[in-house]
Amino acid sequence: MAHRLIVSFVVAALGASFMSTSGLIASESNKIFTLPVLVTFGLLVGLTYLVGSAYGAIFGEYYFYGDEGRDSYLIRKAPAGMTRETGIAEMKRSRKVGAIPPVYPNGWFAVLRSEELKKMETKYVHALGLHLAVFRGESGKVYITDAYCPHLGANLAIGGKVKGECIECPFHGWTYRGDDGKCVKIGYAEKVPDFVKVDTHQCHEIAGYICLWFHAEKEEPSWFPLQDVEAKMSTMGKVGFFEAYVECHVQDIIENGGDIPHLNVVHGPQIYDKHYTGTFEVHETKKHIGITASSFVRKDSKNIWSYFSPEYKKQKREIYQEQHGPGLCFVDFGKELLVIANTPVGPLRQKLTYVLYSPFTKGLKNAIVNKLRLYFSFLALQGDFVIWANKTYLSKPQYVKEDSPTVAHRRWFSQFYTEHSPRYNPPDPLQW
Ligand code: FES
Ligand SMILES: [Fe+2]
Repeated sequence: MAHRLIVSFVVAALGASFMSTSGLIASESNKIFTLPVLVTFGLLVGLTYLVGSAYGAIFGEYYFYGDEGRDSYLIRKAPAGMTRETGIAEMKRSRKVGAIPPVYPNGWFAVLRSEELKKMETKYVHALGLHLAVFRGESGKVYITDAYCPHLGANLAIGGKVKGECIECPFHGWTYRGDDGKCVKIGYAEKVPDFVKVDTHQCHEIAGYICLWFHAEKEEPSWFPLQDVEAKMSTMGKVGFFEAYVECHVQDIIENGGDIPHLNVVHGPQIYDKHYTGTFEVHETKKHIGITASSFVRKDSKNIWSYFSPEYKKQKREIYQEQHGPGLCFVDFGKELLVIANTPVGPLRQKLTYVLYSPFTKGLKNAIVNKLRLYFSFLALQGDFVIWANKTYLSKPQYVKEDSPTVAHRRWFSQFYTEHSPRYNPPDPLQW
């Protein structure tokens, strides 16, 4: 914004001086700051700023954030006699959580979007019950260590400095190597004891996300998200992203991938009437990948999108979705690609990030249509948010035959829990 304002002032100053010297605006020969010149200058600043903002809004990246009250609890205004925050807290408190599975399954989880961490930058992240310092070294490689310094407990990520491929604590300057956490320097000590070390975590950057390997048994990664999604992404342009937080169990969200019948009810009529069918299967050789292949048929080919592109006149559209473990999901709509990260930031709180890529990136029409597509994806997902945030977890649901993909999905998902997977430990209800 500051940058746009400076450009507007410069353009307006040049424009106003050109107009006054060329006689386009009336000015007295010995005065520069006459009223007409100043008015012209002011108008030009406003106009340049508006044009710049409109250009940025249309051609720049589009991003927005969910609102918990509006999206999850349908509380837009404060309920009578309460603040909006109290109303939301009341909704959360009154909910029956149910017999939920462990809260942090094993797998790769996004801790940040890649672009959120520049070289030599450090960020504090709290997720999966871990307190993490995430930093990008001079080489561009990302490292994840425990946030708290083993010396006297300062948070390495808040005020800590990246030195090469190491991080220096902001308190007494102890410096830790990113790849193995070993302390390599204590400025005021004669010797660095061998045992001084901060815990490190496996990190893998893929598909625009910095991912952390979480395993309750401390096992090394047994799989990695497939690289071929990156090849697909490289042929496309990034439209933008949205982020939202939802209070629910991680499985409530991922289970959507097996739940074909909900598509017609929750995602059916928002934009146009459509009828979904689909299957859920486990990848042939990679058991951590769950595949949902669905398609929908529109009842009416005259929908809002068909005015923008013949592609949307098609009666039938296929959607191919790959869920890689419990944290990453790639949804291929035939043209656009939605890259989704789901990260438990608390036992019953999930951070969701949706990044949209499109092969159509050139021109005004595509710039607008892509943004609308991203916004409508969000509207479609709002339907899920409100269900996820208010449901209970049933360990023995009553199914009908057509729910078999959900049954298969639950079976598939159970592989991500192991003996020591953390369980939900609510505080004693009499303590509040
Ligand atoms: S607390 Fe980190 S160096 Fe002292
Ligand atoms: Fe859904």
